[in-house]
Amino acid sequence: MVRFFTPEELLAFDGSDADKPVYIAVKGVIYDVSQSREFYGKGGPYEAFAGRECSRALAIMKVDAAECNDNLADCTEKQLKTLEDWCNKFNSKYPIVGQVQKQLCCTRRPLGACTSVTALDDVVEVPPVESLLRTTFFTPSLLAGMALVVLLTALGAYVLWWDLQHREPGAAAEDHTEL
Ligand code: HEM
Repeated sequence: MVRFFTPEELLAFDGSDADKPVYIAVKGVIYDVSQSREFYGKGGPYEAFAGRECSRALAIMKVDAAECNDNLADCTEKQLKTLEDWCNKFNSKYPIVGQVQKQLCCTRRPLGACTSVTALDDVVEVPPVESLLRTTFFTPSLLAGMALVVLLTALGAYVLWWDLQHREPGAAAEDHTEL
């Protein structure tokens, strides 16, 4: 099962702590790049990427923490191809340790998957409930639908209760005698 990291959790692996591994994320997939601390660790040429989702920075070829995000909306086909090449490189070089937790609401261009095989199964165990809650299953529209059903049920129950409370005491008996 895949271990999910929020962007904040991922940032804890930015290489500033020498006792912790260094992670970077490309297209939502988190790689352990500790073997290349000289690149990504403190003082390294690519330290800006450490602990971050750096798809955009890799696509547009900018070593800049401000460009480290998953926004590919304005990227050209050529830049997307560049990202794909990076993605394939990371897949073949570094172990995968997890996945960046997807945002519940995302209108951006989907990141898509790498062409090379990304084995995300059997990475790290996480409790099933936690992993379920962290998937995109609970989309805002689904949650809104569920809230509406609960609201309508409550309203129905209230109307029923109110009706029972305000009924004429003899009404039920009259109904009975008519039969
Ligand atoms: C003057 C420009 C640049 C030069 C001379 C240069 C040079 C290098 C060299 C020699 C390596 C080591 C390659 C290896 O041993 O596998 C490297 C790695 C790398 N470069 Fe650059 N680079 C430049 C610009 C950039 C830019 C603009 C980016 C932005 C995306 C970038 C991203 C990377 C990354 C991510 C790695 C590490 C790949 C890995 O983990 O194996 N480089 N670069």
